[in-house]
Amino acid sequence: MQRILITGGAGFIGSHLTRLFVNKYPGYKIVNLDALTYAGNLNNLQDIKDAANYTFVKGDITDMALLQQLFEQHQFTGVLHCAAESHVDRSITDPLAFVRTNVLGTATLLQVAKESWKGDYSNKVFYHISTDEVYGSLGETGFFYENTAYDPRSPYSASKASSDHFVRAFYHTYHLPVKISNCSNNYGPFHFPEKLIPLSINNIINNKPLPIYGKGENVRDWLFVEDHARAIDLIYHKGRIGETYNIGGHNEWTNIDLIRELCRQMDIKLGKPEGTSEQLITYVKDRAGHDLRYAIDATKLKDELGWLPSLQFEEGLGKTIDWYLDNRGWLEDVVNGHYKEYYAEQYEK
Ligand code: NAD
Ligand code: DAU
Repeated sequence: MQRILITGGAGFIGSHLTRLFVNKYPGYKIVNLDALTYAGNLNNLQDIKDAANYTFVKGDITDMALLQQLFEQHQFTGVLHCAAESHVDRSITDPLAFVRTNVLGTATLLQVAKESWKGDYSNKVFYHISTDEVYGSLGETGFFYENTAYDPRSPYSASKASSDHFVRAFYHTYHLPVKISNCSNNYGPFHFPEKLIPLSINNIINNKPLPIYGKGENVRDWLFVEDHARAIDLIYHKGRIGETYNIGGHNEWTNIDLIRELCRQMDIKLGKPEGTSEQLITYVKDRAGHDLRYAIDATKLKDELGWLPSLQFEEGLGKTIDWYLDNRGWLEDVVNGHYKEYYAEQYEK
């Protein structure tokens, strides 16, 4: 029987991954360890919270004694490591929080897995979920490949790059059975409204300005979050040990074109005259060190494991908007309290 530790399972991607594993593999035991930072939310997991194969533990990945106790108690056969500080703007304000969780937390988890597995690596997997931002920033052409040299440029991407290096170091030094994937920008339900798409959906609902950094010409490659979770499932079960897999949507949008498409769809769904939401677009000061363009080449994943994105972006965006409009209670809970302070600090100073 597989016994899997998912870290950060109450966050955006982690909750989709946890739901997928709990529902698809009733014979597995899934333990979700999450510190419930501002980004962690147990309301993301309401539908599976009572499942027989699921346990939630509130705790921090830098807490070595807790990790040791959990490995001892559950005898994990696998780790799906999602927990991280994930927002670039917050990393610019508070870089050390990113070093603590993303670097120290990942190294602590690796060390505890190594000590607990004691060299018996048969049927064990340590899967590290990472980002395309480790590769740096592209010009107008080209793609990130698995062997693209690392060139992180924000405190967030530097901390994720460092965590990737630790994961590879544990593979090469101790033969820990690791896998890494580096994915492009995700979008979909349960996305915290500090990120571009859910922030803009929330602001359109509330008739607030849509802040576009710089000229809105930066390009991101967007992937529906359930497609990311599906890719992780495939790689976890069928990917090769010691390998890295890029995951991406082949779906590049400039920020301004994306926001225009969002405004177009939201006007229709909210029954507003065409062009209403676009009037909210407001160009603001650029993000410091703003990476120009990300674009993933996911050919390896397609060729080795047959994975392809399942949704066209316009359709996925429509599903996402519908989810936010149907779950306004979730959104209101999230944007109350600390979010207001964050928003004022980031956008209204
Ligand atoms: P998120 O911020 O929504 O969720 C992070 C989760 O980790 C939260 O539930 C939080 O409570 C938890 N967490 C934070 N610090 C912790 C700690 N010290 N101990 C235990 N739990 C802690 O993040 P996300 O967007 O779901 O990203 C998940 C992972 O995927 C991250 O590793 C991120 O780097 C990576 N990733 C994200 C994207 C994206 O577009 N969102 C794309 C590629 C890769
Ligand atoms: O590429 C994968 C990465 O995607 C993940 O590793 C990160 O965890 C995730 O947060 C995301 O990073 P980005 O910085 O690309 O996402 P964000 O939604 O913050 O910004 C997307 C683009 O929109 C980026 O070019 C900055 C811009 N932006 C963002 C915000 C929040 C704006 O123009 N205005 C905004 O208010």
